[in-house]
Amino acid sequence: MKVSIRPENKSDYSTISMVNDMAFGQEAEGILIEKLRKNKKFIKELSLVACMGNEIVGHILFFPICIKNKNIEYNALALAPMSVIPELQGLGIGSRLVEKGLAKAKKLGHKSVIVLGHEKYYPKFGFKPTSKYNIKAPFDVNENAFMALELSKDALSHVEGTVEYPKEFSEI
Ligand SMILES: CC(C)(COP(=O)(O)OP(=O)(O)OC[C@H]1O[C@@H](n2cnc3c(N)ncnc32)[C@H](O)[C@@H]1OP(=O)(O)O)[C@@H](O)C(=O)NCCC(=O)NCCS
Repeated sequence: MKVSIRPENKSDYSTISMVNDMAFGQEAEGILIEKLRKNKKFIKELSLVACMGNEIVGHILFFPICIKNKNIEYNALALAPMSVIPELQGLGIGSRLVEKGLAKAKKLGHKSVIVLGHEKYYPKFGFKPTSKYNIKAPFDVNENAFMALELSKDALSHVEGTVEYPKEFSEI
């Protein structure tokens, strides 16, 4: 069946939490999304749902973060969280969400995206370990799992610093 990707709307909120609960097998990510939605930096167009017919089967969120170096702050996006319901994983729905989300983020003028995730999955979209740039994670992490993607040419070449996530991420 055909999968379509579109921005979330108000009537999707509880289903998005449910899809995340099912995918992660816990409630933390759904709660995180609900908290981030109340943050004024939340970008509705970058909270995307994957639909089969009228049913939401996946979700992805890109949220503004900064890369901080003493007093200098560079704006970027974090790709997190992302979910596809267990019965439909491995069919390419997640990839469609990533591709559509990255294209939308680029169109909105965002310059780069950071992700903490599977080191074999995200490189196919162009992500590279942040160690290739001068970017550090704010916590201990496997070097290859913390990745960055430039949405415009050399967007990260002059960027140096540590990623700072909004407080909601550490509250869960
Ligand atoms: C991660 C997720 C959203 C990917 O969605 P999907 O629709 O299954 O993704 P696709 O079908 O496009 O790609 C599946 C591929 O990614 C790999 N993959 C993706 N995330 C992975 C992970 N966390 N661990 C291991 N493999 C992963 C799969 O093994 C598969 O590999 P293949 O293409 O070589 O067969 C989905 O698997 C999911 O909801 N997982 C549980 C929640 C989660 O871990 N979210 C990511 C962290 S925010």
